Amino acid sequence: MFKNLWKNRAALVEKNLLVELNKNPALEKKLFDAMKYSLMSGGKRLRPILLMAAADAVKVNGENFLTAASAIEMIHAYSLIHDDLPAMDNDDYRRGKLTNHKVFGEATAILAGDALLTLAFEVLTRQENVSPEILLKVIKEFSTAAGAAGMVGGQSIDLESEGKKISMSTLQKMHLGKTGALFKAAIRSGAILAGANSMQLDALTIYAEKFGLAFQITDDILDVIGDEKNLGKPVGSDAKNNKSTYVTLTSIDTAKNLAQAAVDDAVDALKNFGAEADFLRELVKYLLGRNK
Ligand code: IPE
Ligand code: IPE
Ligand code: MG
Ligand code: MG
Ligand code: MG
Repeated sequence: MFKNLWKNRAALVEKNLLVELNKNPALEKKLFDAMKYSLMSGGKRLRPILLMAAADAVKVNGENFLTAASAIEMIHAYSLIHDDLPAMDNDDYRRGKLTNHKVFGEATAILAGDALLTLAFEVLTRQENVSPEILLKVIKEFSTAAGAAGMVGGQSIDLESEGKKISMSTLQKMHLGKTGALFKAAIRSGAILAGANSMQLDALTIYAEKFGLAFQITDDILDVIGDEKNLGKPVGSDAKNNKSTYVTLTSIDTAKNLAQAAVDDAVDALKNFGAEADFLRELVKYLLGRNK
């Protein structure tokens, strides 16, 4: 049930991403191809899945919000293109394929990222069955999460922390920014679109922060002990770049324990929800055993 729903909804997202991409095509073919290359290269589609699942948890079918869900995946795709650039992590593979700049060149990769970020907000304007007030709240969630107080801010801490011994609290701030912010925006936006009350929104926000933390801790672990074939991206990228991660600051075992604690906290945050939040419970528990 859990895996099936994930698979079915990921397929809906795939289809809709292509529809949205084609609605207002890029002026120039190489740019369009570069955008499509990264957007349609697979991936777990976790952020759209979470947006929809948060709406489900508030007892509104998340599939009503497929448009907004697609928009957040565009922001994610952009963040990956830029993350892989030579000036950032300088990685050659992503999802088992050459990274965007390896295929299209750095300049086009930068522009494709810029275009996907902007397209996300255009797509958001096409979300139906929602009042302008609610949509404005979602725009605030997305833009705050994507920017300097969120993902980009976290990426900046990540780069500034290369080759340094940073504190645990800086590490946590970095993770909550570079990875947690988009997860949080996805979950909060799904809840807001579904008309969550403030208690539900607070609980889902805690779930989201813990989810983001558990996700990035496991990403750091997989960068050391993962299998390149499963991951579709290079193992050892963090060591190559002298990154500060949960593994370098603690150890694999401690990192695993911290991920487990974050997962327990996430599940605990949902204690006042019924079976309608089971998918969210299953999804965060899956993080501990993931291999990609
Ligand atoms: C990778 O995110 C980047 C991080 C935030 C660590 P995902 O692991 O969700 O990437 P895809 O979309 O499934 O490839
Ligand atoms: C990057 O974290 C997170 C974002 C893309 C914002 P990582 O640099 O650890 O992600 P991967 O391991 O390359 O996917
Ligand atoms: Mg990075
Ligand atoms: Mg990276
Ligand atoms: Mg990583």
